[in-house]
Amino acid sequence: MKDLTIKTIKKKNENRKKITIACIAGARPNFIKIAPLIKELSKVKRFRTILIHTGQHYDSAMSDIFFKELNIKKPEISIISGPGSHSEQTGKIMTGLEKEFTELKPDLAIVVGDVNSTLSAALVTSKMNIPLAHVEAGLRSYDRNMPEEINRIVTDRLSNYLFTPSRDAGRNLLKEGIDKNKIYFTGNIMIDTLVKFLKKSGTGTVLKKYGLKKKGFCLITLHRPSNVDEKTVLEKIAKAIRKISGSTKVIFPVHPRTALKIKDFHLGQYFTPPGVLMTEPIGYIETIALISTAKLVITDSGGLQEETTYLKVPCLTLRENTERPVTATIGTNTIVGTNTVFLLKKFKEILAGKYRKGKLPEYWDGKTAQRITKILKKKLL
Ligand code: UD1
Repeated sequence: MKDLTIKTIKKKNENRKKITIACIAGARPNFIKIAPLIKELSKVKRFRTILIHTGQHYDSAMSDIFFKELNIKKPEISIISGPGSHSEQTGKIMTGLEKEFTELKPDLAIVVGDVNSTLSAALVTSKMNIPLAHVEAGLRSYDRNMPEEINRIVTDRLSNYLFTPSRDAGRNLLKEGIDKNKIYFTGNIMIDTLVKFLKKSGTGTVLKKYGLKKKGFCLITLHRPSNVDEKTVLEKIAKAIRKISGSTKVIFPVHPRTALKIKDFHLGQYFTPPGVLMTEPIGYIETIALISTAKLVITDSGGLQEETTYLKVPCLTLRENTERPVTATIGTNTIVGTNTVFLLKKFKEILAGKYRKGKLPEYWDGKTAQRITKILKKKLL
């Protein structure tokens, strides 16, 4: 009799409708953030996770390699959107998502980060009354010239669950009048991926491949329109990189946008061997292997500011501001802007071993996906 009751309850539970969660990712940094979350959500039997690739990044070096290396499941849905102006890109992704959501009828959509795909998905969910969760909510550079800042503000405004990576992000949201009951401080999801893959990154092999010595080189990445779209700015940075390469070897994996600009502006002469080694965009595993063994990193990427802070590697950021201030207040990051005199001063400090060491921000511990999943279980089941 008792057995029968348990069986009946079990059957009832199985028959209960699964909760469909659409996870949206479209650009390189999205893949790194969605990977641990999909893994964790998939452990919950009643969650059905559907991965939607918006196609914002489509090259194998910008997309496929991340799926392979991070062992992310094949997207159930792929939208062909491709390149275009911001509005074109956002519009194409919105149209694609609307069609897919109409069929899928998700109970929740999850977006990560601040790219155009994030914004597109947020807009579509709000028009279709689909609850929205934003992972990496509340970051603000307070610079509306940055396309990502607009994406962040709008996405947060439309979200029902706002998962923040740092305490300052929560404060930003409260200042904007977002209901405190929607805000959850869960930590930095990028660090989940970093913690998991760091041991597997095989630094020795990567250093050998590029002919580099541990702590004997500088890693540079550059892709923000504000740094690469104008010849005068890019040339100024290029000259500083050439100076740096006089005392430390430089490795420079080049983003497609930057490669195009270097070619158009005829700036190739600044990035030549033996001082500078230019490569195609590299995958995640090689990137973290290089960051962790670099003497310093010079970048305009948001992700690298965080990864260097976690790894306690000096980072000089070629931007006037950052939406990730903890990396500069307690981490190893310095915002140098496009002031190359200051950049070179800081570079010398690092070479002389006089640069600060930095500390780890709270909840940058590899357990963010677990914390988010726990909250979503409580709210949705
Ligand atoms: C986007 C994000 C940025 C993020 C970056 C990481 C926005 C507004 N920007 O910038 O926040 O830091 O991704 O890389 O969403 N391209 C290719 N192959 C690709 C992808 C892009 O050749 O696989 C070319 C495009 O054709 C375009 C350029 O690169 O000319 C820029 O791509 P886009 O996705 O518009 O923005 P990103 O600069 O990559």
